[in-house]
Amino acid sequence: MVVTRKWIYVKPFEGLPKDENFKLEEEVLPEPADNEFLAEAEFLSVDPYMRPYMASYPVGSLMIGGQVAKITASRNDSFPVGSYVFGNFGWRTHTIVNPDKNSGDSKPYLLPSFGRHPRSLGVGVLGMPGNTAYFGFLELCRPKEGETVVVSGAAGAVGSVVGQIAKIKGCRVVGIAGSDEKCEWLRKLGFDATINYRKVGQDGFGAALKEAAPKGVDCYFDNVGGYISAAVLGQMNLYGRISVCGTISNYNDARVQVSDPQREFVFKQLCQEGFIVTRWTKRWMEGIVQNLRWIEEGKLSYQETITEGFEQMPKAFVSMLTGGNTGKAVVKV
Ligand SMILES: NC(=O)c1ccc[n+]([C@@H]2O[C@H](COP(=O)([O-])OP(=O)(O)OC[C@H]3O[C@@H](n4cnc5c(N)ncnc54)[C@H](OP(=O)(O)O)[C@@H]3O)[C@@H](O)[C@H]2O)c1
Repeated sequence: MVVTRKWIYVKPFEGLPKDENFKLEEEVLPEPADNEFLAEAEFLSVDPYMRPYMASYPVGSLMIGGQVAKITASRNDSFPVGSYVFGNFGWRTHTIVNPDKNSGDSKPYLLPSFGRHPRSLGVGVLGMPGNTAYFGFLELCRPKEGETVVVSGAAGAVGSVVGQIAKIKGCRVVGIAGSDEKCEWLRKLGFDATINYRKVGQDGFGAALKEAAPKGVDCYFDNVGGYISAAVLGQMNLYGRISVCGTISNYNDARVQVSDPQREFVFKQLCQEGFIVTRWTKRWMEGIVQNLRWIEEGKLSYQETITEGFEQMPKAFVSMLTGGNTGKAVVKV
């Protein structure tokens, strides 16, 4: 008999998530039926999107999310016992999965071999966040050698990879992050300049950006929105490209921080496009293979902030939303 533990969304979020929003429950699972397998979570992801997305789920829903899991029982030849899988199974330790019932971008897939690197990268640089950086930056910013690229949320799972890919492409890279330690790490990764936005504050941000990007900004990869993005927009060069990946500055606080930015788009003839990474589901393995190749070549580094214990999921989630992570935030069961 297998008992799964699972985190249920029991109260709508208001502001920053709190303990009262979550409840840990147990459920007895049946044996896998024909075509099904049993997946035992090893690493679970906590991601910013869970905060805005859960708002559209009814109370009582399982918390959504991806995980790397081991297959411990199977009646599906394509998912044999002992192999590892990535799946969007939610915040739960054990899951009975029928892969054919999941469609399109939420289909589970066998984890490719990461060589000497940890399987946890399957929820990080060799999974959704890495692919968000790879496709969202290269396809929408279309960086050219010598250009200036600014990345907000730069020391996180997505941003740290974007900045390093920009360096691989020969760009000058400016990273914006929330602490001196994070900025120091970014410079070690090869970022040319960094801004600790918490230190310079909203009033000092424009001047700090001018100093960090004296030739203006050609590409902006935006993870945060709000006043940081308004200031970057004001320093974009003619024909600049902006990839809007996320707006974490307003996930827990919906107050409007900035005024209408449209005139920048007109007079600088900017191109801005938002995206969801599942747009590139058909090319998913291309991103993983290329990011792994860059890791092997020593051109792409990763860091993880790992929290031990499934019961710590809410704590790890809130810590990530408030900047407690450097690189990818992961929970080890
Ligand atoms: N479009 C897509 O398909 C897609 C896919 C994945 C992720 N995303 C988005 O990409 C962004 C980054 O995701 P991630 O997984 O890489 O998370 P992450 O950057 O690893 O973690 C979140 C980080 O956001 C920063 N942050 C929190 N509040 C902030 C604020 N008010 N202003 C500026 N920064 C703030 C914190 O770092 P500091 O210490 O620097 O503040 C925190 O560490 C999120 O907006 C997410 O929604 C989009």
